[in-house]
Amino acid sequence: MTSSIVILTGAGISAESGISTFRDPDGIWAKVDYREVATPEGFAANPARVHQFYNWRRKNVRTVEPNAAHVALARLEHAFPGDFLLVTQNVDSLHERAGSQRLIHMHGQHDQALCNACGGRSAWEDEMSLESRCPACEQTGHMRPDVVWFGEMPYQMERIQAALAACDLFVSIGTSGNVYPAAGFVREAQVTGARTVELNLEPSAGAAHFDETDHGPATRVVPDFVERLLSGRGR
Ligand code: OAD
Repeated sequence: MTSSIVILTGAGISAESGISTFRDPDGIWAKVDYREVATPEGFAANPARVHQFYNWRRKNVRTVEPNAAHVALARLEHAFPGDFLLVTQNVDSLHERAGSQRLIHMHGQHDQALCNACGGRSAWEDEMSLESRCPACEQTGHMRPDVVWFGEMPYQMERIQAALAACDLFVSIGTSGNVYPAAGFVREAQVTGARTVELNLEPSAGAAHFDETDHGPATRVVPDFVERLLSGRGR
């Protein structure tokens, strides 16, 4: 019997809602150089370009809706009687809009701002620019999207690692397994004896590490998995 679940999600879970993934052939990194928009160096070199990129992404996500995979994970969280933690690499808000609550955005959220001057965080729905003012310290010129860029430490790693060490089921959904530390979670969970499951459109870079895989679109494989788990057919 499963008593503690950790779920990791990536861009693939939001693909059928209409948000591009990063590394698929038509993905974001095929069109935009990640060094320009997703590194501290890129922001230092051209902050206006970085703001433009995240302003576009923030606006785009307002036009889309959570899909059946997001909804199934929220259902699992509310129906499952044991410990549960959903860790997402996604900066969109589709999990919370579907009803997820025990959720960590390890790569941040693009509808939040971080002030480089005072360290304050604030909800941010509008465009962000070099002129944006921090609601906490009221300085301008220091605001950045509250997202984790390459070379920066993902958020809440201690809490995530404690949950991985205690879980008996780890499920990875819609992630290519290319970006660490998230790509290493499967091995951390395995060390503690957890059953590991991959649900992805295709085998990820780390597919060989999983005990079970189900490859197909998230809107099919995730609700199917949740149904099996809650009915006792998936342990
Ligand atoms: P990727 O774009 O690397 O991988 C997306 C995965 O989702 C691929 O393995 C696809 O096969 C799969 N996929 C695509 N459509 C799917 C669907 N409908 N159903 C299920 N799976 C589908 O995205 P991530 O692994 O999330 O970080 O990328 C990890 C991090 O790299 C991101 O958080 C971002 C990126 O650079 C930063 O920006 C710091």
